[in-house]
Amino acid sequence: MKGVVLAGGLGTRMMPLTKVTNKHLLPIYNKPMVFYPIETLVQAGITDILVVTGGGNAGDFLRLLGNGKDFGLKEINYAYQEGEGGIADALALAEHFVGDDKVAIILGDNIIEKNIKPYVDNFKKQEKGARILLKKVHDPDRFGVPVIEADKIIKIEEKPKEPQSSYAVTGIYMYDSRVFDIVKTLKPSDRGELEITDVNNSYIESRQLEYDILDGWWTDAGTFESLFHASCLVEKKIKSKA
Ligand code: DAU
Repeated sequence: MKGVVLAGGLGTRMMPLTKVTNKHLLPIYNKPMVFYPIETLVQAGITDILVVTGGGNAGDFLRLLGNGKDFGLKEINYAYQEGEGGIADALALAEHFVGDDKVAIILGDNIIEKNIKPYVDNFKKQEKGARILLKKVHDPDRFGVPVIEADKIIKIEEKPKEPQSSYAVTGIYMYDSRVFDIVKTLKPSDRGELEITDVNNSYIESRQLEYDILDGWWTDAGTFESLFHASCLVEKKIKSKA
């Protein structure tokens, strides 16, 4: 299985922190943000990794990550997203890298406590389709939110004003290679982006979307509050092991 870290976009929500650098290079406790999603993939046994980045500081990713020695990798692949066309637009850049393989995607600002290997193993056993990870949160209106009936996700709503469940769709997605055909059918949303939620809804329509509930804590780090919160969670995790 291939792994893709999506670290494109311009991070405009986090000015002035992102004025002279990329959001994913900001610190989470003792490491740059992008280290965490890469580690998440590597710990799950995924070592064939593409990092999609963008903006004016893309070269800094190369200087920081190099060929992946810090992660025990022999090489890291890179792609460059022009502009901020959305998560699914960034994903489209992985088509040739993934080929006919399956792929695990992680958003560059998603930080988690535990190993996702059990879910990756579930997806390896899944003949086709997609698999997402849900997490119960106190502020679902900030995320993609599943509408669940009799244990099945019947649709996902992006940042709904009135969430139909208290789960967030986390930024960890597993797809078969059909995902690239789906991305080509998408139209930009009201915020002008190709939405990953539309990709997932397409899999739901063909009854090919499965899910697991993520164990351990999960946070994004794309707002000032969540960036700070992520640092606190990582600090606590490190100190509890010391
Ligand atoms: O964190 C999980 C949430 O991520 C999901 O629950 C939502 O359904 C999903 O839409 C997404 O929501 P956000 O609005 O928080 O996504 P954001 O625009 O902050 O982008 C998250 C990451 O995706 C970002 O750190 C890098 C990557 N990205 C984003 C955009 C817009 C790209 O690589 N390219 C892009 O153009």
